[in-house]
Amino acid sequence: MARNQSGTTARMFNLANNPITLAGVALTTLSGIGIVTFVIVHLFGGLEASPYIGMFAYVILPAFFVVGLALIPLGMLLRRRRLARAGATAAELRAYPTLDFNEPKLRRAATIFLLLTAANAVILGSVSFLAVEHSETVAFCGETCHTVMQPEYTAYANSPHSRVACVECHIGPGASWFVRSKLDGLRQVWHTVRDTYHRPIATPLETLRPARETCEQCHWPGKHHGDKLRVFARFASDEANTPAYTAMLLKTGGGSLDLGTHGGIHWWHIYSDNRIRYAAADDRREEIVWVELTTPAGEVRVYTREGDEPLPPEVVDAEARIMDCIDCHNRPTHLFQQPSWALDAILDHQPELRALPFFKREAVRAISGDYPSHAEGVEAVRQAILEFYRGTYPDLWSTGQPLVEAGATAAAQTYGRTVFPAMDTNWETHPNHIGHEQSPGCWRCHDDEMATADGEHVIPMDCENCHVFLVEDAPEPPDLAALVAGS
Ligand code: HEC
Ligand code: HEC
Ligand code: HEC
Ligand code: HEC
Ligand code: HEC
Repeated sequence: MARNQSGTTARMFNLANNPITLAGVALTTLSGIGIVTFVIVHLFGGLEASPYIGMFAYVILPAFFVVGLALIPLGMLLRRRRLARAGATAAELRAYPTLDFNEPKLRRAATIFLLLTAANAVILGSVSFLAVEHSETVAFCGETCHTVMQPEYTAYANSPHSRVACVECHIGPGASWFVRSKLDGLRQVWHTVRDTYHRPIATPLETLRPARETCEQCHWPGKHHGDKLRVFARFASDEANTPAYTAMLLKTGGGSLDLGTHGGIHWWHIYSDNRIRYAAADDRREEIVWVELTTPAGEVRVYTREGDEPLPPEVVDAEARIMDCIDCHNRPTHLFQQPSWALDAILDHQPELRALPFFKREAVRAISGDYPSHAEGVEAVRQAILEFYRGTYPDLWSTGQPLVEAGATAAAQTYGRTVFPAMDTNWETHPNHIGHEQSPGCWRCHDDEMATADGEHVIPMDCENCHVFLVEDAPEPPDLAALVAGS
């Protein structure tokens, strides 16, 4: 009996004695040591900085580790076949040896086997955990595929949500969206590797989670009510960059029937009380052809444009989308602002730049030019501004060069945030739906033409339904205290 058992151990070693299994052992051991080292470094806070190291530690090394583990039995199996063909006796090749745990050698072998398996489980377990954790970081989402994500990442980094992780909006809580996002992620990696992704990345996102489940973790509609005061500073393309200020009360509203206060933009379109569904003729959801409102009382109104055929119910079922936050806020964080407005913001915040004659006109012109790459564009815009003042205003150039430099830098940064030639992305490919200036926006539905069949209800275009002007195109910033006192 004892002879038989030590024979088993010997046979295992005999089977293991082949290049494939040995390579597997080496691969597993080396990548295992590598992974353990990375995990330790990670736990002590030394890994976050680079998305590539994370990729290596938690995706590539574990892949080697698993391949190594798989090679071990594979090699043994192949060798067993070879031995069989070479005429080894049936007894020698018996697949399942009888195990007798009274035998010390076997006990030792079994202990080693169990310990190694436990170690492997710990390594693979912690690595999968860290891999998932890593795949949720902003660095992984935004920087691993640098070119592909550069437009969204750059806009994000300059947005009010720059401290909100990508996954908070793109995945949100819960297991099913988590799994879906990982599968979707694999598909994206595949497209990136094969270089078959869309340029620009198609928008709107077909598979985005309903925004209310993500955005409402931080903003919930019951909490916005009342009007919002907005002041728009716009600057002309003339020599003086002449400002014009418009102040309005935007009727953002919100609330709910339960709260007692409700009304305005948020309340009308968000389905806790009202539910709006719509269908569009195009993938970008810009040509809206059918709208349905279900009121809290259960009344259903269907709006179409005069002359349009009514949509058959099966098309409605297949195409209609329940309106949510991103039908208006489609650029809450990846905003590629049109140059004119981006420069208005700069002239508003850096009033000293208004002293540069024709600054707005020249900067818009430079930013709108065609450049082969993002980096070359940034530099070319900077040079264009410097060149303009050096050539056209030599006096200003000699006395006020730091100001010209500041203007050139601001214009170059604006280009850097809004134009990405490698991904074909700019303010025109990804317009903002808030308002009605950059894209038809609200006016996709609010065009005074969408009406119920009986003509009772129209989706209204009256300016005052959405905002009340307090000041229009004033040359000076409005005195807000006086406005409030006077109202
Ligand atoms: C505040 C929420 C929010 C955050 C944070 C956020 N996104 Fe988005 N993202 C959106 C919305 C909303 C859209 C537009 C969806 C649409 O129009 O269908 C979008 C669209 C995208 C698109 C599609 C292209 C486009 O511009 O429409 C990509 C790619 C993307 N996001 C990547 C990222 C990455 C990478 C991060 C982190 C660096 C991130 N997002 C962080 C909300 C967010
Ligand atoms: C994890 C929390 C979080 C999530 C999720 C989130 N936001 Fe925000 N959002 C914020 C914070 C915080 C601010 C205020 C930032 C500031 O004022 O600096 C903000 C600001 C905003 C603003 C005002 C921006 C401005 O320019 O004043 C809008 C609009 C907005 N969020 C819409 C959205 C939408 C739409 C979504 C979902 C796609 C979303 N947010 C998801 C935290 C979040
Ligand atoms: C019908 C279009 C529409 C929908 C749908 C919509 N919003 Fe808004 N929201 C607006 C407008 C318009 C403003 C004011 C924009 C401005 O400041 O210029 C606004 C403002 C905001 C603000 C800034 C509030 C403030 O007082 O500064 C937040 C935050 C916000 N929305 C979140 C959301 C969230 C979350 C959802 C989805 C639950 C949502 N919105 C759905 C149109 C909409
Ligand atoms: C998908 C279509 C659609 C879009 C896009 C849309 N709305 Fe509406 N909106 C409606 C419908 C439908 C009603 C209800 C009309 C009625 O009274 O019968 C409505 C009602 C309103 C009301 C209340 C009007 C009243 O009678 O008092 C306001 C205010 C409003 N919308 C503002 C906005 C703003 C601001 C935007 C853009 C940020 C916007 N809407 C985008 C469909 C839309
Ligand atoms: C369905 C709602 C809606 C209607 C109707 C509407 N607006 Fe607006 N408008 C908006 C919203 C929302 C904004 C704010 C956009 C933003 O946040 O940038 C806006 C912004 C503006 C601005 C400021 C633009 C800027 O950025 O300089 C002007 C001017 C304006 N509207 C004029 C009008 C006039 C004139 C009418 C009537 C013919 C009108 N709007 C009708 C929703 C509406």
